Amino acid sequence: MRSNSALTVRRATADDAGPLITVLAEAFLDGPVADWLVPDPHERRTVYFRYFTLVLHHGLQHGRVDTTSDLSAVAIWYTRDEVPLLASTDHYYEVEKATGRYAPKFLLLDAIFETHHPHPPHDYLAYAAVDPHRQGRGVGTALLTHAHQTLDEAGRAAYLEASNSRNRDLYQRLGYRQGSPIHLPTDGPLIWRMWRGQPTDGTPAPFPSDLLPFRRPL
Ligand SMILES: CC(C)(COP(=O)(O)OP(=O)(O)OC[C@H]1O[C@@H](n2cnc3c(N)ncnc32)[C@H](O)[C@@H]1OP(=O)(O)O)[C@@H](O)C(=O)NCCC(=O)NCCS
Repeated sequence: MRSNSALTVRRATADDAGPLITVLAEAFLDGPVADWLVPDPHERRTVYFRYFTLVLHHGLQHGRVDTTSDLSAVAIWYTRDEVPLLASTDHYYEVEKATGRYAPKFLLLDAIFETHHPHPPHDYLAYAAVDPHRQGRGVGTALLTHAHQTLDEAGRAAYLEASNSRNRDLYQRLGYRQGSPIHLPTDGPLIWRMWRGQPTDGTPAPFPSDLLPFRRPL
């Protein structure tokens, strides 16, 4: 695992939105999920900038957005303490406005991820991205290690979906364990579900059982 101790991680604000939208759109521009969502690479750039504008502002409003001092990375986290209600109608309209004829694919991805979301309380890492020119230098590791320290102090678990096997390996090194994968329809890529539970006896907690839905205490 690479380390990058020179970087400071801090909470992002609305003033950081422009550069962080660019980091998200550029980082996710290539790869099997991008090919599946928007097969045309020329249209993809426009659609992605619009979509990640929505994603970043949603994160600033409803979640926690971390970034680095040089704005080269972004992580969007949400607290998930109970099974959420379905997305609001506004969300559907906003996704349709941002992604046009690709909206059914984006909404299908949301729905599939939601159906496969584990139930125990956790923080959900919805997006992690590093500027493509800065990848592979420990920035992503520094960004996530910062969040994990806070989670460990609070005794909280984390969950994410890894979109390729290289990311999965990074997350495994950071303490996540793999659940059953999701196969995106039709002939789409595999997505690895990753859970970082708090260790009980020194060994990482396994992926939570899908058969034990979380029930809110009375
Ligand atoms: C995944 C990501 C956030 C990691 O950040 P990073 O700063 O590149 O990662 P680090 O330098 O701390 O660690 C490097 C490890 O990250 C993983 N990694 C995944 N994609 C990578 C990429 N495009 N370039 C470099 N490392 C990548 C690998 O496991 C790598 O280790 P390896 O070189 O031994 O294979 C970043 O590469 C990225 O933004 N990728 C594109 C968007 C994405 O896939 N986000 C995650 C969605 S699950």
